[in-house]
Amino acid sequence: MGAACDCQMSAEDTLRKRESITLKDTSCLLSSWKNFTDDADMKILSLRFFNLVLETHPEVSKYFEFTGSHYSSSQRDLKMKTHTLIVLHRLGTIVGQVENPPIMIGLMEKLAKSHVKKGITHDEMEKFTAVFMTFFVEQINKPHLQAEMTDSWSKFVGTLLKIYKMVEEEKGIFANPND
Ligand code: HEM
Repeated sequence: MGAACDCQMSAEDTLRKRESITLKDTSCLLSSWKNFTDDADMKILSLRFFNLVLETHPEVSKYFEFTGSHYSSSQRDLKMKTHTLIVLHRLGTIVGQVENPPIMIGLMEKLAKSHVKKGITHDEMEKFTAVFMTFFVEQINKPHLQAEMTDSWSKFVGTLLKIYKMVEEEKGIFANPND
């Protein structure tokens, strides 16, 4: 008898299985995000996150430059600050769908498609999400839950990055020739 075939599994089943987002992870992701949004002012958090990204990976600012010589670096920074706020809101939307894998994966794929089109590489996305994870776990400030949260968020981000790689390599999972 040959090896068991998982060809009946859908793309999202395969990803879910590989990344093993368990029920415990699901509950940790949802409750940690709730904590994040309930207890803090999103604008202040996004400003902190912006400063951290600029400090650790200043090279990402090149994607936020304006064309034309009359624009200043403060206008570029404003564009980046807006983006960090959008990032936090979008991550919240995606995490909110963790119990619904087809939607969660569809949202991740959409994000990957729009960012691959902007020329952002998998490595850049990986560095950015690593900064986000450290930032997120620190902000929650619950040392006794740190290991558990880091583990669950690593799986979530791992899924996002896996999808990013597939999109970058033009292997869209819900490939739509019109996209
Ligand atoms: C978890 C990671 C990220 C999330 C959730 C996210 C989310 C978003 C969203 C929702 C938008 C607006 C809609 C769109 O164009 O798709 C956007 C725009 C953009 N993102 Fe991201 N992003 C992420 C990471 C990154 C990274 C790592 C870079 C660059 C290194 C980047 C650069 C941009 C740029 C240049 C725009 C257009 C901004 C503008 O036109 O003002 N993003 N992002």
